Amino acid sequence: MVAGRTRAGRGHAPSGPMRFAVATDASVLEASDLIKSGRLIGMPTETVYGIAANAFDEQAIAATFEAKGRPSENPLIVHIDKLARLEEVARDIPSEAEVLAKKFWPGPLTIVLSKRGAIPDIATAGLDTVAVRMPAHPVALKLIELSNVPLTAPSANLFTGLSPTRAEAIEPEIARILAMILDGGPCQVGIESTVLDLTGPVPLVLRPGAVTVDEIAAEIGQSVAHASSADTKKSPGQYQRHYSPKTPITIIAELTSQPGLTMHKPQYSSQRQMSDDPKEYARQLYSALAQLDKMGLEEIFVEAPPTSPEWDAIWDRLRKACG
Ligand code: TXA
Ligand code: MG
Repeated sequence: MVAGRTRAGRGHAPSGPMRFAVATDASVLEASDLIKSGRLIGMPTETVYGIAANAFDEQAIAATFEAKGRPSENPLIVHIDKLARLEEVARDIPSEAEVLAKKFWPGPLTIVLSKRGAIPDIATAGLDTVAVRMPAHPVALKLIELSNVPLTAPSANLFTGLSPTRAEAIEPEIARILAMILDGGPCQVGIESTVLDLTGPVPLVLRPGAVTVDEIAAEIGQSVAHASSADTKKSPGQYQRHYSPKTPITIIAELTSQPGLTMHKPQYSSQRQMSDDPKEYARQLYSALAQLDKMGLEEIFVEAPPTSPEWDAIWDRLRKACG
């Protein structure tokens, strides 16, 4: 199923106007009731905002794909609030996963494991594996706990668009099919989680993120490979163009008078200063691009950041934004 945007959310359209709600005990409880009745919720995580649904509810998951205009061959990440819930979604869990979960969960690391039958095929695009993470945002953890089911949550953007890192950045086309958006403030990581596949002969990073290859390798005491473009079967969601603003993007050595992102002091209102710290840069990236995207520019230029390994995830997103 490749759903068109115009059909987004049919049958799941909210009965009243969608609500932005500051995340409080009461609003998170209400959101968990909406999850239980098959609705979709805008959920804050430490990485980016997601579209949360009951991971056991095929219809809610189908509505998630439809809302994003996302191809059905691109599987979703299942979010859990405690280790005890891992057994509900995955089986034959290797010891490396336990070691990594202990070190990096809750946090921006997604681990691909063998799937349990309870997770519907539509969630994992028919794969016999499932991607799982425990998000480090108190609102996400509370929503999962109160819903008392694991939650699927892709980033809350239209297919190939920029992921929102603030509640207000969720595009109206997405917002209108959500029963509620829980506003949990700006995302502290700012780019999507690292995706690590532990189902093959060697640990394989399918998507770089805040948790680096070196950190993973150090923790499990073995080398970790990067997925190449030849691994598209393993990494079905790694489309060449992704994470893109509507305005074309070009990476250049140094920004002078062009509009875009610079690591120096900006000279023009169409320039944004980015941090020279990769973690801070990641936190700023999508909202800086989203701001420039609204300015009606012909092109956005991005000054090339450093090439050391801590910048890998930034480079991955920038290259994909260029398409
Ligand atoms: O930080 C994040 O991970 C955010 C927040 C909301 O948690 N979620 C997110 O989900 O980025 P999404 O759907 O935008 O990206 C999920 C990625 C895709 O590249 C997908 O292909 C990959 O995870 N993935 C999911 N299940 C997989 C599986 N079983 N095998 C391989 N890759 C998988
Ligand atoms: Mg995404």
